[in-house]
Formats: sequence, structure tokens, C-alpha cells
Amino acid sequence: ESRPPAQSPWPYPRWIAHRGAGKHAPENTLAAFRLGASHGYRMFECDAKLSADGVVFLLHDDTLDRTTNGHGIGGELHWATLSQLDAGGWHSRQFAGEPLATLEAVARYCQANHALLNIEIKPTTGLEFETGRAVALTAARLWGWPADGATAALPPGAVPPLLTSFQPESLKAALEATPALPRGLLLETLWSGWLEAALALRCEAIVCDQDLWDTTSVAQARREGLRTLAYTVNDESSVQRLLALGIDGIITDRIDLFSPAA
Ligand code: G3P
Ligand code: CA
Repeated sequence: ESRPPAQSPWPYPRWIAHRGAGKHAPENTLAAFRLGASHGYRMFECDAKLSADGVVFLLHDDTLDRTTNGHGIGGELHWATLSQLDAGGWHSRQFAGEPLATLEAVARYCQANHALLNIEIKPTTGLEFETGRAVALTAARLWGWPADGATAALPPGAVPPLLTSFQPESLKAALEATPALPRGLLLETLWSGWLEAALALRCEAIVCDQDLWDTTSVAQARREGLRTLAYTVNDESSVQRLLALGIDGIITDRIDLFSPAA
């Protein structure tokens, strides 16, 4: 039996800057958020994981080596060590000294600049549940969002962060910890049972590799009231194809090419 289409309006804009604006500035740092905002973006995707002492911070890879001057598994270090790393110099000299960002710093930035956030839960291998729980609880605290759904006291129009993950286990932890925060299942393939999994996790959205969206998969998601988002969309013809399909959200690196006002 199908669920009815989602009743409430989708509160997120169509255009979402990937990893902050992570091609033109060092990904997942505040410098990337600032640059995306300067191009008119008001929603950002980012990658969140857990330090060894329980601080939620932004890092895409398991290891620090590609995007910082540190080495090894990021989630195995304490924040006191992580906070000393240079997460900008690898990108270009202009960003040398840019630190790793905590989710708390990003929340403050977004709130001060009226920006919305898509937090991808990016667990260190083996910590899928713990990371999902920690990210969800931290996000609920930082946005002042009641975990249990009692949102009546929030200011009108308040919009929570959207939590996403490739890991069903992380979304399960988020559902248990903060059922009121919206969730999206990330997919790089349409694995068997993806739709049922998204519904069991009470997701509001499917966030797919762009090539997985076609008339069939969009219709399948829509029939269940799920929103459709695509990553990572960096050329005009792909944008046109996705817009023709009626995709709700486009995650892009090309803040220079696509204006979110268009
Ligand atoms: O959240 C969409 C996209 O960011 C997923 O892929 O590898 O860039 O985190 P990745
Ligand atoms: Ca991501």
C-alpha cells in the first residue's frame, strides 16, 4: 500500500553546494561555506564524523591525508589534535591555515547567515551506529530542535538540518535518537530493497547518484511521498535532464556555473 505524497512543503532549496563549496575552497571548511554563500547558495552539504573524544567534525575521507597536513584515521584522534591541523593548505596557498570545522562552528555559521544544512553522516568504519547517534543528537542540540517531535515551541519557519547517510545503520541510530530530524537515504546504486529500506527508516528523501534517476525511479520514490535529490551534478545537460524529471534537490560543486537564484 502506498503512502500519500508528502503533505508539508519541502523546506529546502533546490540548489545545494557540495562539501560547502568544496572545489573552489577547501572542502568541509568554513572557508568553503563562506564562498558558497557569496555565490548565493543558502544550503550546504557536508560530511560529519566523530573524533575519538566524541566531537562531531567535518571530514570526507576516513583518513586525514588528502585534505589536511595530518595522517591516519581522522576518527582515531582527539579534537585537541585535530583542531591544530591545516585543512586548507592542500587546496591552495590562499587557504593555508584554515582549520577543520566542528559541526558546532558550522551550525553557528549557518544560523547567523540564514543558511540550511544537509549533514551527511560519514562514519569511520565500524562506528556506523555510534556516529549516527552522535551526529543526530549533536544536530538536535545545536539547532535547538526537540528530538521527540514536539516542535510547537520553535519559531515559525524554523528548518532543521537534513541528515543523510549511505549507511542504513547510521540512519537507524538517527531515527531512534532524534525521530523529528528529517532523514534521507543516500544511494550509489539502486540496491535491492532500497525503497523499503528508506520507508522503514522513515526517510523523507532519497539522495541518489544522478545517473540513477530516471522516470521509473523518480515515480517509485514519489509514489511513496519521498523527495528526490541528486549528487554530484556539475554540467548543464545533466541539470536539464534532472529538472525535466522534477528532481527536488541538486547537489553541485559548480557554484561558479549554477546560480541558485535561477
Ligand atoms: O551527499 C551526497 C554526496 O556528497 C555523496 O558522496 O562521496 O561526495 O560524500 P560523497
Ligand atoms: Ca558527502
